[in-house]
Parts: sequence; C-alpha cells; structure tokens
Amino acid sequence: MSNLLILGGTTEANALAKAVAEQGLNAIYSYAGRVGNPRPQPLPTRVGGFGGVEGLARYIRDHGVTHVIDATHPFAAQMSGNAAHACSQTGTPFAALTRPDWVEGDADDWTRVAGIESAVEALNGPAQRVFLAVGRMHLEEFAAQPQHHYLLRLVDQPDGVPMPNAAVEVSRGPFTVAGDIELMRRHGTELIVSKNAGGSGARAKLDAARQLGLPVLMIDRPTVPERTEMATTAQVLDWLAHTGF
Ligand SMILES: NC(=O)c1ccc[n+]([C@@H]2O[C@H](COP(=O)([O-])OP(=O)(O)OC[C@H]3O[C@@H](n4cnc5c(N)ncnc54)[C@H](OP(=O)(O)O)[C@@H]3O)[C@@H](O)[C@H]2O)c1
Repeated sequence: MSNLLILGGTTEANALAKAVAEQGLNAIYSYAGRVGNPRPQPLPTRVGGFGGVEGLARYIRDHGVTHVIDATHPFAAQMSGNAAHACSQTGTPFAALTRPDWVEGDADDWTRVAGIESAVEALNGPAQRVFLAVGRMHLEEFAAQPQHHYLLRLVDQPDGVPMPNAAVEVSRGPFTVAGDIELMRRHGTELIVSKNAGGSGARAKLDAARQLGLPVLMIDRPTVPERTEMATTAQVLDWLAHTGF
C-alpha cells in the first residue's frame, strides 16, 4: 500500500496534511519536536529526529514509506539534505513543497546577507533596538553582539535568553501588518533581522518595516540539493497521482 511521509513543521505542510487526510490517502506527518505542544494534525503523527540519513533510510524501509514530501521550512537545510539523500539511497520518489523567496520592493530598505554568521557580523556597530525575528535556534550566535537591545518573538516562552538586553514576545502567529507596526512602535524598533522564509505567515513584519521606513537585514536561504519542487498542495497531489501513489 502507498504511504506518504510528510516532513512538516510549516503552514504549507499543515495545509498538505489537511488535503491528504480529506482525500483519505495513507500518510504520516513528521515533526522535529522543536516546539512544545505542536499543532495536532489530521494524520498519524510522529515526533523527533530520524537519526541522520541512515536513520531516515531505515525509517522509510521499516514503515513502508513509498513517497516523501519535504515540506519543512526553507532554513531546515539539514533535514532537506538528509531527505534527498535517504530517498536517493532507498529509491523513494521525493519532492519538496516550497514557497518562493520574498523579493525586495522599491519602497523596501534591505541589506542581504548570506547566512546567520554574516548577519551577526553585520550587527557589529553601535547599539540599536533590533527586532530579531529568526526563531529560537540561533540566539546564541547573536549574543556575540550584546550591545543591542533585542526584541525576540518566539513560539514558546524560553527558559532564558543568551543576550543581556532583550524583550521576549511569545506568539505563534499568524501576524498582521497592523499588529507588527504596533509591536515595533512599542519596542522602538530601529532594525529588523529576518530570514528569507517566504510565504505569507511571517511576511507582515516586512510590510510593517516598509510602512515604518525601517531597514531590514535579510538572511538568504541556505542551499539544498537539487530536487523536484512544487509550490502548491494541488501540485503535490498531482505529483503523487503521477508517481503511482
Ligand atoms: N529553521 C527555521 O527557521 C524553521 C522555522 C519554522 C519551522 N521550522 C520547522 O522546525 C523543524 C526543525 O527545523 P530546523 O531548522 O531545526 O531543521 P534542521 O536544522 O534542518 O534539522 C536538524 C535535524 O532535526 C531533525 N528534523 C528537522 N525537521 C524534522 C522533521 N520535520 N521531522 C523529523 N525530524 C526533523 C532532523 O534530525 P535527524 O538528523 O535526527 O533526522 C534534522 O537533521 C522543521 O520541521 C522545520 O520545518 C523551522
């Protein structure tokens, strides 16, 4: 029997899970287990790493997985690389559900940097009030620039943060432009640091930055191995139908 593994943790993965469940397709949804209390899915769900490429290849064999969709976040490059390699090793049809990059408009003021390390370097300078919208995983790196006041928006309340001068806003989104304008005004934000995640869920802060005339330090996406990419749930359902699901 066909069995789809969805590598999830994104709005797009959740929409795909809903469509797959509605069609009655056999599928499993996989979370990394980074956030407490992840959203329930209308599919059987597993939580936690697989154990690298070998672990995922074993999982695919042991659970009779016949198709894999990588619907992880564009910055989850380790998982995306592992999935590409494990599927190639096991001969499993594999594709990614992705979202286009955000593109700078005329009214935007972006500085693009190649990765987290370059973003940290770019913050070397006088103290500013920085909205650091990069999630929880890379806070340690930014603690190397402790002169700034950081506004951190996180999904879960952290036990502590590594920078001396920070305010934490706990929220899961979706966010609105009006809400983000209010947030940035309240915190006196002077600079936004953002990953180029794409999609609509986290876009509001960029539109808010544009309206407030604030600069954005935009972190480019990491590279991932060549793969079949699709932009919509409908395309994934089509791809499944065409790959013998
Ligand atoms: N990075 C972001 O900015 C971001 C933002 C929003 C949501 N997310 C979601 O958060 C999760 C982790 O992201 P990340 O950037 O930490 O990933 P990552 O650095 O690429 O992955 C590190 C390890 O976490 C495990 N892992 C990641 N995603 C998994 C999944 N969906 N199911 C099972 N194991 C997974 C894998 O462990 P093993 O090697 O042991 O298999 C992987 O090697 C992903 O599901 C992603 O979609 C990430």
